[in-house]
Amino acid sequence: MTIPDVRAYDALGATGPLPPGSPALAPSPAPNPAPTPSPAPVPPASTPPRASTGFDPETARRDVPVLHRTVNGQPLVWLDNGATTQKPRQVIEALGTYYSAANSNIHRGAHTMAREATETYEAGRAAVARFLGAESPDNIVFTRGTTEAINLVAQTWGRANIGPGDEILVPRLEHHSNIVPWQQLAKEKRARLVPVPLLADGSVDQDAFAGLLSFRTQLVAVSQASNVLGTVPPVKEMAALAHRYGAKVLVDGAQAVAHFPVDVRDLGADFYVFSGHKLFAPTGIGALYGRPELLESMPPWQGGGNMIDQVDFTGSTFAPVPHRFEAGTGHISGVAGLLAAIDWLTGFDREAVAAYEQELLAYAERALGEVPGLRILGSAPGKIAVLTFTLAGLDPADIARLLDRDGIAVRAGHHCAQPSLRHYGLESAARASLALYNTPQDVDRLADSLLRMRQDVA
Ligand code: ALA
Repeated sequence: MTIPDVRAYDALGATGPLPPGSPALAPSPAPNPAPTPSPAPVPPASTPPRASTGFDPETARRDVPVLHRTVNGQPLVWLDNGATTQKPRQVIEALGTYYSAANSNIHRGAHTMAREATETYEAGRAAVARFLGAESPDNIVFTRGTTEAINLVAQTWGRANIGPGDEILVPRLEHHSNIVPWQQLAKEKRARLVPVPLLADGSVDQDAFAGLLSFRTQLVAVSQASNVLGTVPPVKEMAALAHRYGAKVLVDGAQAVAHFPVDVRDLGADFYVFSGHKLFAPTGIGALYGRPELLESMPPWQGGGNMIDQVDFTGSTFAPVPHRFEAGTGHISGVAGLLAAIDWLTGFDREAVAAYEQELLAYAERALGEVPGLRILGSAPGKIAVLTFTLAGLDPADIARLLDRDGIAVRAGHHCAQPSLRHYGLESAARASLALYNTPQDVDRLADSLLRMRQDVA
């Protein structure tokens, strides 16, 4: 395996200052132009043939300044995309442009900048609706992220529709955000949270799922991709089956949206949630999709400005959907960034990106397979490019620390998904999670470092 000769860039130098006179809130320019010349890395012998997928990761890499910095004297290899993704300069510039030329509150005030900011915010909503295949922008509620979106559903739809003896089915592979809000709701309503077991490869046991469904099932909450095992459950089929029992289906897209195209209506999702920061957008912004009749039927959640129609001390009436669920001032710059991120990602051929990531995953599985004592958790067919692993003789936290010395960022710990690790009898593991801008050279660096680590402990 070879280590590519990657030139270290200073992140800010690569981004450069905002051009003077940037138009306020202009949509990002033509996607993916190169801001800086990237040196062509030397491909290792078994590089996935990108011609076969039609996607060249360098076209994404060159847009992302932070990928060109060094860490501990080594060119950064960012393999912690499951925790958060890095931001292309189009997103960074959208934030800078918003604050340097266009900051205003929205949905109030008659001045030009209030109108411009409102237009950007609503353009962001429309972009999310198109991105998810939603019926209309009115079906998109902005939230802080996946966790807040799930809590919103639990505390509005859930409180209104779940009662004593009802059941909420949740696969064991879910992260805590898709377990704890349901557990709290079940406790409050004397309902039952029912875990759906996994098979040895990390797939959701479909026979068990079918057996657990009943007319007591009010909700199935399932991730479209697991953050630990990479499993992509057959959500469409699960939703169709759940609907036969009259259950609603919430699909958690936190780990899916960056990897493959989503169509909420084709999936049959009643609710769909995701976080912007795992989609190359800023932190603190995410979205909830809800089927029109469900959102219409749901009571408001948080009270405050923006979500009302009329307020009096005798009582208040509420704004129409989706504003009814967006109390207070939203994360306006975050929406500008999310809009830029969606523009950036959809500027690529997403099917080609998904095919590339699958080739990179296969390459990584082969490369890590050469490291003695390394065990990868989760091998469900069609999994996303997430490699959670243990290495005999080494604590996962030490693995992450030693990789960091080589400039390689992975996550270690329970990954906010303790039940999925316990399925393998573990409390902790290391995880390399890949994105479209990762390359075979990144994988080589990881495998080399792990091999050296292994030799040191042997
Ligand atoms: N769910 C996030 C992760 O997997 C926090 O790292």
